Amino acid sequence: MDIAVIRGDGIGPEIVNEALNILNIAAKKFNLNFNYKDVYMGGCAIDKFGEPLPDESVKACLASDAVLLGAVGGPKWDSQPPENRPEKGLLKLRNALGVYANIRPARMFNALKAACPLRDDIAAKGIDFIVVRELTGGIYFGEHFINEAKDFARDVMTYSELEIKRIAKTAFETARIRNKKVTSVDKANVLASSRIWRQIVSEMRDKDYSDIELNHMYVDNAAMQIVKDPSQFDVILTENMFGDILSDEASQITGSIGLIPSASLGADNTPWLYEPIHGSAPDIAGQDKANPIGTILAAAMMLRYSFKLEEAACAIEQAVNKILNDGWRTGDIFDAAHDDKDKLLGCSQMAKVIGDAI
Ligand code: IPM
Ligand code: MG
Repeated sequence: MDIAVIRGDGIGPEIVNEALNILNIAAKKFNLNFNYKDVYMGGCAIDKFGEPLPDESVKACLASDAVLLGAVGGPKWDSQPPENRPEKGLLKLRNALGVYANIRPARMFNALKAACPLRDDIAAKGIDFIVVRELTGGIYFGEHFINEAKDFARDVMTYSELEIKRIAKTAFETARIRNKKVTSVDKANVLASSRIWRQIVSEMRDKDYSDIELNHMYVDNAAMQIVKDPSQFDVILTENMFGDILSDEASQITGSIGLIPSASLGADNTPWLYEPIHGSAPDIAGQDKANPIGTILAAAMMLRYSFKLEEAACAIEQAVNKILNDGWRTGDIFDAAHDDKDKLLGCSQMAKVIGDAI
């Protein structure tokens, strides 16, 4: 299995290193063989090649079986023109791989209930849902225009039936092996793209997914419901930008954005992309403080979705669960009132205890 590895910027190299350590431990235990190829993307690629995603990098990713990514970006590249920013590399890669379905779980670990910022009675009901975010369409990939005088700008949001159907299919099928409930989030009271979205999703439910409970929710209400009663959600289906915003909100109520992995899936014959949902955290880069769990769980998702290695994926997830239950913490999930100071770990030590638990 050939894995393209994008370490990226900021804490990216640290967290990816630890995820690779974990993959190597899983490889040993389950007798697997992973080949890694380093690929440049983001600020480091701008520094080295003058652009955030050189064609060579795209080729290397396309030639792999899966792509594992840390994080890209940082203040160093803030003055780059918009088309040459590190984030552009990521958007270009998603587009090149055609990974239209972004799966972002929002699950609260039992051991981290105290880190949940919601009221105890709300947290007690638990949080376990998945955001299925459309990833290669919408306003992210529509026209972005600024006139010469820079006093007028336009960003265009488009959606086609094909784009809506394939992402809705992912959501319905995800719900089918969970609690059979899809909440489709849109802004159909204002946006035309949302109106056809709602229509198409409803038709699919009636035609092919009558076993799934479907409801529609406006995005402003969804943002409120996620903090009011997150236990009501099973699968949230939504377009690109709403999904970007709601998945950050969802991650934060589970305790820390540092814990959440994501998988970006596309056609069967192309490599898929796995990454933590957090950014490159330049403020703590190089200090061995980052939480590697999001990236480690992204590697587990890679084993599950791209390589169908369910047992190895579960072994990693169970190890993470166990060490959190045992009280091990990184700074972002450490709570002085509840946690043991002697169990506060850096990035590499955290990966070490997870590896030992596999
Ligand atoms: C994410 C990030 C990206 C996005 C940025 C870095 C372009 O916020 O993966 O959620 O907006 O999709
Ligand atoms: Mg985001």
